[in-house]
Amino acid sequence: MPLRSDAWYSGEDRNAYIHRAWMRRGVPGSAFEGRPQIAIANTASDLTPCNAHLGEVAASVRNGVYEAGGIPLELPVVSLGETQVRPTAMLWRNMAAMATEEMLRANPVDGVVLLGGCDKTIPSLLMAAASVDLPAVLVPGGPMLTGTFRGAPLGCGTHVWRLSEEVRAGTLSQEDFVTSESATIRSRGHCNTMGTASTMAALAEVLGTVIPGTAGIPAPDSRLLESSHAAGRLAVELVREERRPSDVLTTASFHNAIVALGAIGGSTNAVVHLLAIAGRLGIDLTLDDFDRIGSRVPLLADLLPSGRFLMEDLHRAGGLAAVMGEVRDLLDPAALTVTGRRYIEHLDDAAVWDREVIRPRAAPVLEEGGIAVLRGSLAPQGAVIKPAAASPHLLQHRGRAVVFDSIEDLHARLDDPDLDIDADSVMVLRGCGPQGYPGMPEVANMPLPTKLLEAGVRDVVRVCDGRMSGTAYGTVILHVAPESAAGGPLAKVRTGDWIELDVPGRRLSLDVPAAELAEREPSATAAAAYAAPTRGWEKLYIEHVLQADTGADLDFLVGATGDRVARESH
Ligand code: FES
Ligand code: MG
Repeated sequence: MPLRSDAWYSGEDRNAYIHRAWMRRGVPGSAFEGRPQIAIANTASDLTPCNAHLGEVAASVRNGVYEAGGIPLELPVVSLGETQVRPTAMLWRNMAAMATEEMLRANPVDGVVLLGGCDKTIPSLLMAAASVDLPAVLVPGGPMLTGTFRGAPLGCGTHVWRLSEEVRAGTLSQEDFVTSESATIRSRGHCNTMGTASTMAALAEVLGTVIPGTAGIPAPDSRLLESSHAAGRLAVELVREERRPSDVLTTASFHNAIVALGAIGGSTNAVVHLLAIAGRLGIDLTLDDFDRIGSRVPLLADLLPSGRFLMEDLHRAGGLAAVMGEVRDLLDPAALTVTGRRYIEHLDDAAVWDREVIRPRAAPVLEEGGIAVLRGSLAPQGAVIKPAAASPHLLQHRGRAVVFDSIEDLHARLDDPDLDIDADSVMVLRGCGPQGYPGMPEVANMPLPTKLLEAGVRDVVRVCDGRMSGTAYGTVILHVAPESAAGGPLAKVRTGDWIELDVPGRRLSLDVPAAELAEREPSATAAAAYAAPTRGWEKLYIEHVLQADTGADLDFLVGATGDRVARESH
Protein backbone atom coordinates (compact mmCIF):
# COMPACT_ATOMS: atom_id res chain seq x y z
CA MET A 1 0.00 0.00 0.00
CA PRO A 2 1.48 3.38 -0.92
CA LEU A 3 2.16 5.76 1.95
CA ARG A 4 1.92 9.53 1.98
CA SER A 5 5.58 9.65 3.00
CA ASP A 6 6.53 7.77 -0.19
CA ALA A 7 6.17 11.16 -1.90
CA TRP A 8 9.35 12.10 -0.04
CA TYR A 9 11.22 8.85 0.32
CA SER A 10 10.58 6.56 -2.63
CA GLY A 11 12.60 6.64 -5.79
CA GLU A 12 16.17 7.14 -6.89
CA ASP A 13 16.15 10.82 -7.76
CA ARG A 14 18.05 13.61 -6.09
CA ASN A 15 15.12 14.83 -3.99
CA ALA A 16 14.35 11.38 -2.55
CA TYR A 17 18.06 11.06 -1.80
CA ILE A 18 17.99 14.38 0.13
CA HIS A 19 14.86 13.48 2.10
CA ARG A 20 16.28 10.09 3.10
CA ALA A 21 19.88 11.09 3.70
CA TRP A 22 19.14 13.68 6.35
CA MET A 23 16.77 11.33 8.18
CA ARG A 24 19.12 8.35 8.33
CA ARG A 25 20.45 9.23 11.76
CA GLY A 26 20.28 5.85 13.40
CA VAL A 27 16.92 4.66 12.12
CA PRO A 28 16.71 1.09 10.79
CA GLY A 29 17.89 0.61 7.21
CA SER A 30 14.35 -0.36 6.28
CA ALA A 31 12.92 2.91 7.64
CA PHE A 32 11.96 4.25 4.23
CA GLU A 33 10.64 1.04 2.74
CA GLY A 34 6.92 1.17 3.31
CA ARG A 35 7.03 1.72 7.06
CA PRO A 36 4.44 4.23 8.34
CA GLN A 37 6.10 7.42 9.59
CA ILE A 38 4.31 8.34 12.80
CA ALA A 39 4.66 11.82 14.25
CA ILE A 40 4.35 12.16 18.00
CA ALA A 41 2.93 15.67 18.38
CA ASN A 42 4.11 16.46 21.86
CA THR A 43 2.95 19.40 23.96
CA ALA A 44 5.48 18.65 26.71
CA SER A 45 7.09 21.79 28.12
CA ASP A 46 8.59 22.83 31.41
CA LEU A 47 6.38 25.91 31.14
CA THR A 48 3.30 23.72 30.84
CA PRO A 49 3.75 21.87 34.12
CA CYS A 50 0.60 19.81 33.53
CA ASN A 51 2.25 18.32 30.42
CA ALA A 52 5.86 18.17 31.60
CA HIS A 53 5.75 14.37 31.93
CA LEU A 54 4.72 13.78 28.33
CA GLY A 55 8.33 13.06 27.37
CA GLU A 56 8.03 9.79 29.25
CA VAL A 57 4.68 9.13 27.62
CA ALA A 58 6.27 9.78 24.22
CA ALA A 59 8.94 7.15 24.96
CA SER A 60 6.22 4.54 25.44
CA VAL A 61 4.49 5.66 22.27
CA ARG A 62 7.77 5.28 20.39
CA ASN A 63 8.13 1.69 21.55
CA GLY A 64 4.62 0.93 20.40
CA VAL A 65 5.19 2.48 16.98
CA TYR A 66 8.42 0.51 16.47
CA GLU A 67 6.83 -2.69 17.67
CA ALA A 68 4.07 -2.36 15.09
CA GLY A 69 6.55 -1.70 12.30
CA GLY A 70 6.31 2.08 12.07
CA ILE A 71 8.93 4.80 12.53
CA PRO A 72 8.26 7.19 15.44
CA LEU A 73 9.18 10.84 14.97
CA GLU A 74 8.84 13.19 17.87
CA LEU A 75 7.46 16.58 16.87
CA PRO A 76 7.38 19.20 19.64
CA VAL A 77 4.39 21.46 19.05
CA VAL A 78 3.17 24.69 20.59
CA SER A 79 2.37 24.11 24.24
CA LEU A 80 0.09 26.28 26.35
CA GLY A 81 0.37 26.28 30.13
CA GLU A 82 -2.93 27.48 31.51
CA THR A 83 -1.59 28.92 34.74
CA GLN A 84 1.51 30.61 33.34
CA VAL A 85 0.61 32.16 30.02
CA ARG A 86 -0.71 35.76 29.97
CA PRO A 87 -3.16 37.17 29.16
CA THR A 88 -4.77 33.78 28.57
CA ALA A 89 -3.72 30.52 26.93
CA MET A 90 -6.87 30.75 24.82
CA LEU A 91 -5.32 33.59 22.81
CA TRP A 92 -3.04 30.96 21.23
CA ARG A 93 -5.32 27.93 20.97
CA ASN A 94 -5.94 28.73 17.32
CA MET A 95 -2.28 29.53 16.71
CA ALA A 96 -1.22 26.22 18.27
CA ALA A 97 -3.81 24.42 16.15
CA MET A 98 -2.64 26.19 13.02
CA ALA A 99 1.05 25.54 13.68
CA THR A 100 0.44 21.86 14.42
CA GLU A 101 -1.75 21.41 11.37
CA GLU A 102 0.81 23.09 9.13
CA MET A 103 3.79 21.12 10.47
CA LEU A 104 1.99 17.82 10.12
CA ARG A 105 1.07 18.62 6.54
CA ALA A 106 4.51 19.97 5.62
CA ASN A 107 6.41 16.94 6.90
CA PRO A 108 6.75 13.38 5.61
CA VAL A 109 4.39 11.76 8.09
CA ASP A 110 1.61 9.23 7.58
CA GLY A 111 -0.09 9.37 10.96
CA VAL A 112 0.16 11.06 14.32
CA VAL A 113 -0.11 10.39 18.02
CA LEU A 114 -1.26 13.53 19.82
CA LEU A 115 -0.03 14.11 23.38
CA GLY A 116 -1.98 16.70 25.36
CA GLY A 117 -3.30 17.48 28.80
CA CYS A 118 -3.50 21.05 30.05
CA ASP A 119 -6.67 22.90 29.06
CA LYS A 120 -5.99 24.24 25.57
CA THR A 121 -3.61 21.54 24.43
CA ILE A 122 -6.15 18.81 23.62
CA PRO A 123 -8.50 21.21 21.78
CA SER A 124 -5.66 22.63 19.68
CA LEU A 125 -4.41 19.13 18.81
CA LEU A 126 -7.88 17.94 17.80
CA MET A 127 -8.50 21.06 15.69
CA ALA A 128 -5.20 20.45 13.94
CA ALA A 129 -5.89 16.74 13.42
CA ALA A 130 -9.32 17.52 12.00
CA SER A 131 -7.97 20.02 9.50
CA VAL A 132 -5.05 17.91 8.28
CA ASP A 133 -7.06 14.67 8.59
CA LEU A 134 -4.09 12.35 8.94
CA PRO A 135 -4.78 9.11 10.85
CA ALA A 136 -4.54 10.20 14.49
CA VAL A 137 -4.94 8.94 18.04
CA LEU A 138 -4.81 11.13 21.11
CA VAL A 139 -3.21 10.23 24.44
CA PRO A 140 -4.42 12.42 27.29
CA GLY A 141 -1.64 12.95 29.85
CA GLY A 142 -3.97 12.30 32.77
CA PRO A 143 -4.93 14.12 35.95
CA MET A 144 -2.67 14.55 38.98
CA LEU A 145 -3.21 12.67 42.21
CA THR A 146 -5.33 14.15 44.99
CA GLY A 147 -3.48 16.56 47.25
CA THR A 148 -4.53 17.03 50.85
CA PHE A 149 -4.40 19.97 53.24
CA ARG A 150 -5.08 19.38 56.93
CA GLY A 151 -6.50 15.97 56.17
CA ALA A 152 -8.96 17.18 53.55
CA PRO A 153 -8.61 16.79 49.77
CA LEU A 154 -7.69 19.80 47.71
CA GLY A 155 -9.05 20.22 44.20
CA CYS A 156 -6.88 22.16 41.78
CA GLY A 157 -8.31 25.51 40.94
CA THR A 158 -11.55 25.12 42.82
CA HIS A 159 -9.95 25.26 46.27
CA VAL A 160 -7.73 28.15 45.25
CA TRP A 161 -10.86 30.17 44.51
CA ARG A 162 -12.54 28.94 47.69
CA LEU A 163 -9.60 29.45 50.03
CA SER A 164 -8.83 32.92 48.66
CA GLU A 165 -12.43 33.94 49.32
CA GLU A 166 -12.13 32.54 52.85
CA VAL A 167 -9.11 34.79 53.38
CA ARG A 168 -11.06 37.81 52.14
CA ALA A 169 -14.00 36.86 54.32
CA GLY A 170 -11.66 36.61 57.31
CA THR A 171 -12.25 32.92 58.02
CA LEU A 172 -8.77 31.70 56.92
CA SER A 173 -5.43 33.29 57.76
CA GLN A 174 -3.11 34.47 55.02
CA GLU A 175 -0.40 32.23 56.46
CA ASP A 176 -2.54 29.09 56.26
CA PHE A 177 -3.57 30.03 52.75
CA VAL A 178 0.07 30.13 51.62
CA THR A 179 0.80 26.87 53.44
CA SER A 180 -1.85 25.12 51.35
CA GLU A 181 0.07 26.08 48.20
CA SER A 182 2.55 23.22 48.35
CA ALA A 183 -0.23 20.70 48.96
CA THR A 184 -2.28 21.63 45.91
CA ILE A 185 -0.12 20.06 43.21
CA ARG A 186 0.71 16.58 44.48
CA SER A 187 2.06 14.95 41.36
CA ARG A 188 2.60 15.23 37.65
CA GLY A 189 -0.53 15.58 35.55
CA HIS A 190 -3.20 18.18 34.85
CA CYS A 191 -5.80 19.62 37.22
CA ASN A 192 -7.64 16.92 39.12
CA THR A 193 -11.04 18.57 39.22
CA MET A 194 -13.57 18.22 36.40
CA GLY A 195 -12.10 21.40 34.94
CA THR A 196 -11.35 22.02 31.31
CA ALA A 197 -8.43 19.59 31.04
CA SER A 198 -10.32 16.64 32.54
CA THR A 199 -13.39 17.58 30.51
CA MET A 200 -11.57 17.75 27.20
CA ALA A 201 -9.74 14.48 27.84
CA ALA A 202 -13.07 12.80 28.56
CA LEU A 203 -14.79 14.35 25.56
CA ALA A 204 -11.87 13.40 23.30
CA GLU A 205 -12.46 9.79 24.34
CA VAL A 206 -16.21 9.99 23.78
CA LEU A 207 -15.56 11.66 20.41
CA GLY A 208 -13.64 8.50 19.55
CA THR A 209 -10.13 9.93 19.23
CA VAL A 210 -8.68 8.21 22.34
CA ILE A 211 -8.33 4.48 23.03
CA PRO A 212 -11.53 3.84 25.00
CA GLY A 213 -11.04 3.41 28.73
CA THR A 214 -7.79 5.35 28.89
CA ALA A 215 -8.83 8.99 29.40
CA GLY A 216 -8.71 9.80 33.08
CA ILE A 217 -5.94 7.39 34.03
CA PRO A 218 -3.97 9.45 36.59
CA ALA A 219 -0.71 10.75 35.15
CA PRO A 220 1.58 8.79 37.54
CA ASP A 221 -0.34 5.52 37.03
CA SER A 222 1.65 2.85 35.14
CA ARG A 223 -1.40 2.14 33.05
CA LEU A 224 -0.85 5.48 31.32
CA LEU A 225 2.42 4.20 29.86
CA GLU A 226 0.79 0.91 28.91
CA SER A 227 -1.96 2.74 27.05
CA SER A 228 0.61 5.06 25.44
CA HIS A 229 2.41 2.00 24.08
CA ALA A 230 -0.91 0.74 22.73
CA ALA A 231 -1.58 4.13 21.12
CA GLY A 232 1.75 3.92 19.30
CA ARG A 233 0.81 0.51 17.94
CA LEU A 234 -2.65 1.72 17.01
CA ALA A 235 -1.30 4.71 15.05
CA VAL A 236 0.50 2.31 12.71
CA GLU A 237 -2.69 0.29 12.30
CA LEU A 238 -4.69 3.48 11.60
CA VAL A 239 -2.35 4.30 8.72
CA ARG A 240 -2.59 0.79 7.32
CA GLU A 241 -6.38 0.88 7.52
CA GLU A 242 -6.60 4.53 6.40
CA ARG A 243 -8.85 5.40 9.33
CA ARG A 244 -8.87 9.16 9.68
CA PRO A 245 -10.25 11.75 12.13
CA SER A 246 -13.03 12.54 9.66
CA ASP A 247 -14.22 8.90 9.95
CA VAL A 248 -14.46 9.20 13.71
CA LEU A 249 -15.48 12.82 14.29
CA THR A 250 -19.05 12.86 13.02
CA THR A 251 -22.38 14.35 13.99
CA ALA A 252 -22.98 11.18 16.01
CA SER A 253 -19.76 11.50 18.00
CA PHE A 254 -20.41 15.17 18.79
CA HIS A 255 -23.88 14.18 19.95
CA ASN A 256 -22.28 11.72 22.35
CA ALA A 257 -19.72 14.26 23.54
CA ILE A 258 -22.50 16.66 24.45
CA VAL A 259 -24.28 13.92 26.41
CA ALA A 260 -20.99 13.21 28.20
CA LEU A 261 -20.51 16.88 29.01
CA GLY A 262 -23.77 16.79 30.95
CA ALA A 263 -23.19 13.45 32.66
CA ILE A 264 -19.75 14.39 33.93
CA GLY A 265 -20.65 18.01 34.68
CA GLY A 266 -17.88 19.24 32.41
CA SER A 267 -16.46 22.69 31.84
CA THR A 268 -18.28 25.45 29.97
CA ASN A 269 -15.08 25.89 27.95
CA ALA A 270 -15.91 22.62 26.22
CA VAL A 271 -18.72 24.41 24.39
CA VAL A 272 -16.28 26.74 22.65
CA HIS A 273 -13.81 23.93 21.94
CA LEU A 274 -16.35 21.45 20.55
CA LEU A 275 -17.83 24.13 18.29
CA ALA A 276 -14.35 24.96 17.00
CA ILE A 277 -13.43 21.30 16.37
CA ALA A 278 -16.75 20.69 14.59
CA GLY A 279 -16.12 23.80 12.49
CA ARG A 280 -12.91 22.23 11.21
CA LEU A 281 -14.90 19.24 9.94
CA GLY A 282 -17.81 21.10 8.43
CA ILE A 283 -20.13 19.51 10.96
CA ASP A 284 -23.16 21.68 11.54
CA LEU A 285 -22.95 21.91 15.32
CA THR A 286 -24.60 24.93 16.95
CA LEU A 287 -24.88 26.39 20.41
CA ASP A 288 -28.50 25.26 20.49
CA ASP A 289 -27.42 21.62 20.07
CA PHE A 290 -25.82 21.84 23.50
CA ASP A 291 -29.11 22.80 25.05
CA ARG A 292 -31.21 20.42 22.94
CA ILE A 293 -29.00 17.35 23.43
CA GLY A 294 -27.24 18.00 26.69
CA SER A 295 -28.98 20.35 29.05
CA ARG A 296 -31.34 17.72 30.46
CA VAL A 297 -28.79 14.95 30.79
CA PRO A 298 -28.52 13.88 34.44
CA LEU A 299 -25.30 14.80 36.20
CA LEU A 300 -23.91 11.50 37.49
CA ALA A 301 -20.29 12.15 38.40
CA ASP A 302 -20.06 13.85 41.78
CA LEU A 303 -16.88 15.81 41.11
CA LEU A 304 -15.46 19.18 42.01
CA PRO A 305 -15.91 22.04 41.15
CA SER A 306 -19.61 21.49 41.82
CA GLY A 307 -19.46 18.17 43.68
CA ARG A 308 -17.28 16.31 46.17
CA PHE A 309 -14.73 14.03 44.52
CA LEU A 310 -11.69 14.29 42.27
CA MET A 311 -10.43 12.57 39.12
CA GLU A 312 -8.51 9.91 41.02
CA ASP A 313 -11.79 8.94 42.69
CA LEU A 314 -13.57 8.80 39.33
CA HIS A 315 -10.91 6.47 37.97
CA ARG A 316 -11.18 4.20 41.02
CA ALA A 317 -14.98 4.22 40.72
CA GLY A 318 -14.93 2.85 37.18
CA GLY A 319 -13.97 5.88 35.14
CA LEU A 320 -15.63 7.59 32.24
CA ALA A 321 -16.95 4.36 30.72
CA ALA A 322 -18.88 3.63 33.91
CA VAL A 323 -20.52 7.05 33.75
CA MET A 324 -21.31 6.68 30.07
CA GLY A 325 -22.73 3.21 30.63
CA GLU A 326 -25.42 4.82 32.77
CA VAL A 327 -26.53 7.08 29.92
CA ARG A 328 -26.01 4.60 27.14
CA ASP A 329 -29.58 4.95 25.92
CA LEU A 330 -28.96 8.64 25.23
CA LEU A 331 -26.00 7.97 22.97
CA ASP A 332 -25.95 7.76 19.20
CA PRO A 333 -24.96 4.13 18.56
CA ALA A 334 -23.48 4.93 15.14
CA ALA A 335 -20.45 6.80 16.49
CA LEU A 336 -17.09 5.12 15.82
CA THR A 337 -13.76 5.25 17.62
CA VAL A 338 -10.13 4.94 16.64
CA THR A 339 -10.39 1.22 17.36
CA GLY A 340 -12.73 0.85 14.39
CA ARG A 341 -15.49 -0.32 16.72
CA ARG A 342 -18.52 1.70 17.74
CA TYR A 343 -18.19 3.77 20.89
CA ILE A 344 -21.07 2.07 22.68
CA GLU A 345 -19.47 -1.36 22.25
CA HIS A 346 -16.70 -0.23 24.57
CA LEU A 347 -19.25 0.30 27.32
CA ASP A 348 -20.26 -3.37 27.48
CA ASP A 349 -17.89 -4.17 30.32
CA ALA A 350 -18.29 -0.89 32.18
CA ALA A 351 -18.90 -1.34 35.90
CA VAL A 352 -19.39 1.13 38.73
CA TRP A 353 -17.35 0.41 41.85
CA ASP A 354 -18.35 3.38 43.97
CA ARG A 355 -21.90 4.65 43.88
CA GLU A 356 -21.01 7.79 45.79
CA VAL A 357 -18.69 8.98 43.02
CA ILE A 358 -20.77 7.73 40.08
CA ARG A 359 -24.44 7.93 40.87
CA PRO A 360 -27.06 5.64 39.41
CA ARG A 361 -29.29 7.08 36.74
CA ALA A 362 -32.24 6.89 39.11
CA ALA A 363 -30.53 9.00 41.76
CA PRO A 364 -28.35 11.54 39.95
CA VAL A 365 -26.44 14.40 41.55
CA LEU A 366 -28.72 16.64 39.54
CA GLU A 367 -31.55 15.86 37.14
CA GLU A 368 -30.20 18.33 34.60
CA GLY A 369 -26.44 18.53 34.42
CA GLY A 370 -25.62 20.05 31.07
CA ILE A 371 -25.04 23.53 29.76
CA ALA A 372 -28.05 25.80 29.35
CA VAL A 373 -28.06 28.26 26.46
CA LEU A 374 -29.67 31.61 27.16
CA ARG A 375 -30.91 34.18 24.68
CA GLY A 376 -32.66 37.49 24.92
CA SER A 377 -32.10 41.20 24.58
CA LEU A 378 -28.80 41.03 26.44
CA ALA A 379 -27.46 38.07 24.44
CA PRO A 380 -29.07 37.94 20.99
CA GLN A 381 -26.60 35.30 19.72
CA GLY A 382 -26.57 33.40 22.96
CA ALA A 383 -24.81 32.96 26.27
CA VAL A 384 -24.19 29.90 28.40
CA ILE A 385 -24.54 28.92 32.04
CA LYS A 386 -23.69 25.74 33.87
CA PRO A 387 -26.65 25.32 36.20
CA ALA A 388 -24.85 22.59 38.14
CA ALA A 389 -22.26 25.13 39.27
CA ALA A 390 -24.86 27.80 40.05
CA SER A 391 -26.96 28.55 43.13
CA PRO A 392 -30.48 27.15 42.73
CA HIS A 393 -32.08 30.25 44.30
CA LEU A 394 -30.55 32.51 41.63
CA LEU A 395 -31.58 30.55 38.55
CA GLN A 396 -34.63 32.78 38.23
CA HIS A 397 -33.64 36.22 39.29
CA ARG A 398 -34.27 39.89 38.60
CA GLY A 399 -31.75 42.41 39.82
CA ARG A 400 -30.10 45.73 39.19
CA ALA A 401 -26.93 45.84 37.14
CA VAL A 402 -23.63 46.91 38.63
CA VAL A 403 -21.45 47.41 35.57
CA PHE A 404 -17.68 47.14 35.30
CA ASP A 405 -15.98 48.33 32.11
CA SER A 406 -12.89 46.17 32.41
CA ILE A 407 -11.20 43.76 34.75
CA GLU A 408 -9.08 46.66 36.01
CA ASP A 409 -12.22 48.67 36.74
CA LEU A 410 -13.58 45.68 38.66
CA HIS A 411 -10.43 45.31 40.75
CA ALA A 412 -10.27 49.04 41.43
CA ARG A 413 -13.84 49.29 42.73
CA LEU A 414 -14.50 45.83 44.17
CA ASP A 415 -13.66 46.76 47.72
CA ASP A 416 -14.87 50.34 47.59
CA PRO A 417 -17.16 50.69 50.63
CA ASP A 418 -19.32 53.05 48.58
CA LEU A 419 -19.96 50.49 45.83
CA ASP A 420 -23.73 50.33 45.61
CA ILE A 421 -24.27 46.58 45.55
CA ASP A 422 -26.24 43.99 47.45
CA ALA A 423 -27.02 40.29 47.27
CA ASP A 424 -29.69 40.90 44.62
CA SER A 425 -27.46 42.89 42.29
CA VAL A 426 -26.31 41.50 38.95
CA MET A 427 -22.60 42.07 38.37
CA VAL A 428 -21.81 42.81 34.73
CA LEU A 429 -18.29 42.71 33.33
CA ARG A 430 -17.82 43.65 29.68
CA GLY A 431 -14.95 44.04 27.26
CA CYS A 432 -13.83 40.45 27.86
CA GLY A 433 -14.93 38.80 24.62
CA PRO A 434 -12.65 37.37 21.92
CA GLN A 435 -11.97 40.76 20.32
CA GLY A 436 -12.15 43.08 23.31
CA TYR A 437 -9.77 41.09 25.49
CA PRO A 438 -8.20 38.73 22.97
CA GLY A 439 -8.59 35.12 23.98
CA MET A 440 -11.63 35.95 26.16
CA PRO A 441 -9.92 35.23 29.48
CA GLU A 442 -11.44 33.36 32.38
CA VAL A 443 -12.55 36.41 34.32
CA ALA A 444 -16.31 35.93 34.27
CA ASN A 445 -16.43 34.41 37.75
CA MET A 446 -15.80 37.84 39.25
CA PRO A 447 -14.75 37.85 42.88
CA LEU A 448 -17.48 39.16 45.13
CA PRO A 449 -17.08 42.52 46.88
CA THR A 450 -15.66 42.10 50.37
CA LYS A 451 -18.67 43.71 51.93
CA LEU A 452 -20.90 41.02 50.44
CA LEU A 453 -18.53 38.27 51.56
CA GLU A 454 -18.47 39.70 55.08
CA ALA A 455 -22.26 39.68 55.04
CA GLY A 456 -22.15 35.95 54.27
CA VAL A 457 -23.07 36.23 50.59
CA ARG A 458 -21.28 33.55 48.54
CA ASP A 459 -22.89 34.00 45.14
CA VAL A 460 -24.58 36.66 43.05
CA VAL A 461 -25.64 36.60 39.40
CA ARG A 462 -22.72 37.57 37.19
CA VAL A 463 -22.81 38.30 33.44
CA CYS A 464 -19.78 38.53 31.17
CA ASP A 465 -18.67 38.14 27.56
CA GLY A 466 -15.55 36.30 28.74
CA ARG A 467 -15.07 32.74 29.90
CA MET A 468 -14.84 31.08 33.30
CA SER A 469 -12.29 28.57 34.47
CA GLY A 470 -13.64 25.05 34.31
CA THR A 471 -12.65 24.71 37.96
CA ALA A 472 -14.80 27.66 39.04
CA TYR A 473 -18.40 27.83 40.18
CA GLY A 474 -21.18 30.32 40.76
CA THR A 475 -24.24 31.70 38.98
CA VAL A 476 -22.16 33.01 36.14
CA ILE A 477 -23.46 33.72 32.64
CA LEU A 478 -20.64 33.43 30.15
CA HIS A 479 -19.71 33.84 26.50
CA VAL A 480 -22.34 36.54 25.94
CA ALA A 481 -22.55 37.03 22.18
CA PRO A 482 -22.11 39.34 20.48
CA GLU A 483 -19.49 40.65 22.91
CA SER A 484 -19.45 44.34 23.79
CA ALA A 485 -16.45 45.06 21.56
CA ALA A 486 -18.33 43.58 18.59
CA GLY A 487 -21.34 45.84 19.11
CA GLY A 488 -23.31 43.62 21.46
CA PRO A 489 -25.97 45.15 23.73
CA LEU A 490 -23.68 44.45 26.68
CA ALA A 491 -21.84 47.65 25.69
CA LYS A 492 -24.97 49.69 26.40
CA VAL A 493 -25.91 48.38 29.85
CA ARG A 494 -25.81 50.98 32.62
CA THR A 495 -25.52 50.54 36.34
CA GLY A 496 -29.03 50.48 37.71
CA ASP A 497 -30.65 48.82 34.69
CA TRP A 498 -32.78 45.80 35.54
CA ILE A 499 -31.58 42.45 34.26
CA GLU A 500 -33.72 39.35 34.28
CA LEU A 501 -32.33 35.85 34.32
CA ASP A 502 -34.64 32.91 33.72
CA VAL A 503 -32.61 29.73 33.33
CA PRO A 504 -35.61 27.37 33.08
CA GLY A 505 -37.05 29.70 30.41
CA ARG A 506 -33.59 30.09 28.82
CA ARG A 507 -33.85 33.91 28.85
CA LEU A 508 -31.41 36.69 29.65
CA SER A 509 -33.05 40.06 29.24
CA LEU A 510 -32.10 43.65 29.73
CA ASP A 511 -35.24 45.44 30.84
CA VAL A 512 -34.67 48.58 28.84
CA PRO A 513 -37.19 49.41 26.12
CA ALA A 514 -35.80 48.62 22.67
CA ALA A 515 -36.28 52.20 21.49
CA GLU A 516 -34.35 53.57 24.44
CA LEU A 517 -31.58 51.01 23.97
CA ALA A 518 -31.29 51.94 20.28
CA GLU A 519 -30.76 55.56 21.30
CA ARG A 520 -27.99 54.76 23.75
CA GLU A 521 -24.35 55.01 22.76
CA PRO A 522 -22.08 52.07 23.62
CA SER A 523 -19.94 52.84 26.65
CA ALA A 524 -16.88 54.88 25.72
CA THR A 525 -15.04 53.87 28.89
CA ALA A 526 -15.52 50.23 28.01
CA ALA A 527 -14.30 50.89 24.47
CA ALA A 528 -11.18 52.61 25.79
CA ALA A 529 -10.13 49.33 27.37
CA TYR A 530 -10.62 47.16 24.26
CA ALA A 531 -7.46 45.69 22.78
CA ALA A 532 -5.90 47.66 19.94
CA PRO A 533 -2.84 45.66 18.84
CA THR A 534 -0.86 47.09 15.94
CA ARG A 535 1.13 44.01 14.94
CA GLY A 536 1.77 40.34 15.52
CA TRP A 537 -0.47 37.43 16.34
CA GLU A 538 -2.81 39.51 18.45
CA LYS A 539 -3.58 41.80 15.52
CA LEU A 540 -4.27 38.85 13.23
CA TYR A 541 -6.37 37.33 15.97
CA ILE A 542 -8.71 40.25 16.60
CA GLU A 543 -9.18 40.87 12.90
CA HIS A 544 -10.28 37.30 12.26
CA VAL A 545 -11.64 35.79 15.45
CA LEU A 546 -15.25 34.60 15.42
CA GLN A 547 -17.61 35.07 18.34
CA ALA A 548 -17.90 32.53 21.14
CA ASP A 549 -21.23 31.17 19.89
CA THR A 550 -19.45 29.59 16.91
CA GLY A 551 -16.27 28.50 18.68
CA ALA A 552 -13.97 31.55 18.57
CA ASP A 553 -11.85 30.07 15.80
CA LEU A 554 -10.27 32.35 13.21
CA ASP A 555 -12.51 32.75 10.18
CA PHE A 556 -9.81 31.53 7.76
CA LEU A 557 -9.06 28.42 9.84
CA VAL A 558 -12.60 27.03 9.76
CA GLY A 559 -12.70 23.90 7.60
CA ALA A 560 -10.02 21.47 6.49
CA THR A 561 -7.29 21.26 3.87
CA GLY A 562 -6.51 17.58 4.32
CA ASP A 563 -3.10 15.97 4.03
CA ARG A 564 -2.21 16.97 0.47
CA VAL A 565 1.49 16.94 -0.29
CA ALA A 566 2.95 20.27 -1.36
CA ARG A 567 5.43 20.90 -4.20
CA GLU A 568 9.09 19.97 -3.87
CA SER A 569 11.40 22.17 -1.86
CA HIS A 570 14.49 21.79 -4.00
FE1 FES B 1 -3.12 22.76 33.44
FE2 FES B 1 -5.29 23.13 35.07
S1 FES B 1 -3.53 24.33 34.87
S2 FES B 1 -4.94 21.64 33.59
MG1 MG C 1 -8.60 26.65 33.02
